[in-house]
Amino acid sequence: MMLARMPLIAGNWKMNKSGTEARDFVREFLAQLPAWEDREVLLCPPFTALAVVGPLLYGSPVRLGAQNLYPEESGAFTGEISPRMLVDAGCAYVILGHSERRHHFREDDPLIRRKVAAALASGLKPILCIGESLSQWEAGLASEVVLGQLRAALVDLSAEEVFSVVVAYEPVWAIGTGRTATPDQAQEMHALIRAEIRQLWGQEPAERLRLLYGGSVRPENIDELMACPDIDGALVGGASLEVESFLRIVGFRQAS
Ligand code: PGA
Repeated sequence: MMLARMPLIAGNWKMNKSGTEARDFVREFLAQLPAWEDREVLLCPPFTALAVVGPLLYGSPVRLGAQNLYPEESGAFTGEISPRMLVDAGCAYVILGHSERRHHFREDDPLIRRKVAAALASGLKPILCIGESLSQWEAGLASEVVLGQLRAALVDLSAEEVFSVVVAYEPVWAIGTGRTATPDQAQEMHALIRAEIRQLWGQEPAERLRLLYGGSVRPENIDELMACPDIDGALVGGASLEVESFLRIVGFRQAS
């Protein structure tokens, strides 16, 4: 039996928006957001805006997420934020292993695995980002790299834990470049990822786990991406910064 997966559209603001800008965005966004019951919407502001955005979202259908965490409870880790602090700020989700963290901050698979485990232990749902670089894609290594990152981050988890994970496939060559994977390319990779989950944890986790596509998602391409059977949502960077474009993306048309 096919299990229905609730679509998830997540806005990743990256290092953008002051507290005031975040507040203005959220007020305008919530004022225009229809009361859907068939999709989940998530905003991931920078750490400094969490305390502003969290209370504004309270009681709304939009969830709060963070863009990173450090996998320790507390202590001498200057500049870092713990899972408990994110829960305290009202976060339900946390983006982990984003390619910008892997590349600019040298995050490797063992660290990302610890972050995923720490998020789950605190009740946060990890959005694990995986994706190949342009050179890996050109060398025909995309599926090897992507499935390797998936296994490395999730290998120790039980099937129960995998139910709480969201995976975002983001080809690095499509992030912020305006160059999107075609729906067929994205669908093909998503189907491979789901097959790998099935092989590792079984049928039910594979059918329940939500797979997001990320990389230059725009109002113009969201409908065709969401029409793909294994694409359950989107992780949206640049186009989540403007109220109008993010509203148009979260308002994607469901395939009937
Ligand atoms: P983009 O970013 O939508 O600006 O390409 C996506 C992401 O990095 O999550």
